[in-house]
Amino acid sequence: MQLKFYSTTIFRETPKVTFFDAGLDVSNGCDVVIHSKEAISPPDDFKDEQYYVHEHQIDHNLVITGERKFVLINPSWNEPHHVIYLNRSMGALEIPIGTYHRSISGKEGSIVLNQPRRDKSFDPSKEFIPQKLDKLSLIKARKSLPVYWIWENDQIKRVRINPFKRKIKTLI
Ligand SMILES: [Fe+2]
Repeated sequence: MQLKFYSTTIFRETPKVTFFDAGLDVSNGCDVVIHSKEAISPPDDFKDEQYYVHEHQIDHNLVITGERKFVLINPSWNEPHHVIYLNRSMGALEIPIGTYHRSISGKEGSIVLNQPRRDKSFDPSKEFIPQKLDKLSLIKARKSLPVYWIWENDQIKRVRINPFKRKIKTLI
């Protein structure tokens, strides 16, 4: 499964100033999600992980400050479990419809700009209800070995870690 990242256009970058175009032609919304210090969206329900899953919205998440770890679960994919260590340089991560997802910030917190594509049936009262992984296919997908997406040497790399050989295999 190839995830899609929309790159931004940087106009100017100096040690103290970064100025870039974050606009996406495909988007018709503009949401900001601020994590002050350590936070998870959506938060755990006691010990159970919770996820968002959209029916009428494709997300495009761009980190503005900090780093945000995204977990994506989609049993219909040949690789159903992805962990993305998203930073600004990687661009806006697309999260397709029907994909269970959550995001986690470290101690420093992070700010994410989500520029979604919403269809005419979008209803905010239904679209953002946290969900548990309550189907066998979802639980199996969550337990499967994830594909990791990281930023290394100025490019996006997807890697798998073999827990038995403790080997890291670069897939791109
Ligand atoms: Fe979302």
